[in-house]
Amino acid sequence: MKDNYDSFYKKSSKKFKKYEFHGQGRLVAGEKPNFFEYLKKFTNKNFKVLDLGCGSGELTLKFSPFLKEIVGIDPFDDYIKSAEKLKKETDIKNVIFKIADGKNLPFEDEYFDIVFSSRGPLSANNDFIRESFRVLKKGGLMIEETIGEEDKIELKKIFGRGQNYPYQETKLELVKKMLAQCGMNLVKSKYFKYYQVYSSINDVIETLERAPIIPDFDKAKDKSYLEEIDRKLNKKGIKLSNHRLFWVAEK
Ligand SMILES: C[S@@+](CC[C@H](N)C(=O)[O-])C[C@H]1O[C@@H](n2cnc3c(N)ncnc32)[C@H](O)[C@@H]1O
Repeated sequence: MKDNYDSFYKKSSKKFKKYEFHGQGRLVAGEKPNFFEYLKKFTNKNFKVLDLGCGSGELTLKFSPFLKEIVGIDPFDDYIKSAEKLKKETDIKNVIFKIADGKNLPFEDEYFDIVFSSRGPLSANNDFIRESFRVLKKGGLMIEETIGEEDKIELKKIFGRGQNYPYQETKLELVKKMLAQCGMNLVKSKYFKYYQVYSSINDVIETLERAPIIPDFDKAKDKSYLEEIDRKLNKKGIKLSNHRLFWVAEK
């Protein structure tokens, strides 16, 4: 179970090269949260920051003017190559991209002021939280945008499986438990819910190939579920829920 997250992105990074989530759906209800604006509230020109699971580095670069140094790590070279390419198109000097696994970070203890993750692996399991804790200074912050337990629940019900489904505990309860195990204090948290309409089943398929909603999703093997989604949910488009959790914790 623990390795699902990595293996999903290994396959997806080879296929798409760049982590680009267009959010194929059209927003029809609710508020789409802005993690960049949220992060900005915690910036300081003296801070050294780690972006855990930076993908192709858009957010890492965008955040860099507000900090002393920012390192973006991701285990997949296709993503890091696109991040480096993007960096070359700018004159940004305080960003480093590195191929690295969030469970085994190539940094000394208490190096960073902030470790953040934008829909990355931070709270995917305890190994990531423990390792991030190690590289975080005393008083430093972990900040994450992660996926809530109700995300794409309509699809998970049809597949009968999915990320954190069926859930016994909410994502926030799981995060709290993991933080307590390493003695981090949860400072704040906020859930967001919004709805998007996907114009066709192909847009839904692309979403499932780009994000680990159904971690072992296979277009061919899962054909009958896709047909069921199209039959039951497609009413001039397929309306799906998005559920996000933002949280901040202090060491
Ligand atoms: C949903 S993407 C988010 C990318 C980027 N943070 C963004 O917001 O655009 C999740 C990222 O986590 C990365 N990831 C997967 N396994 C990882 C691991 N073991 N250590 C660090 N990052 C990992 C994936 O390669 C992917 O780039």
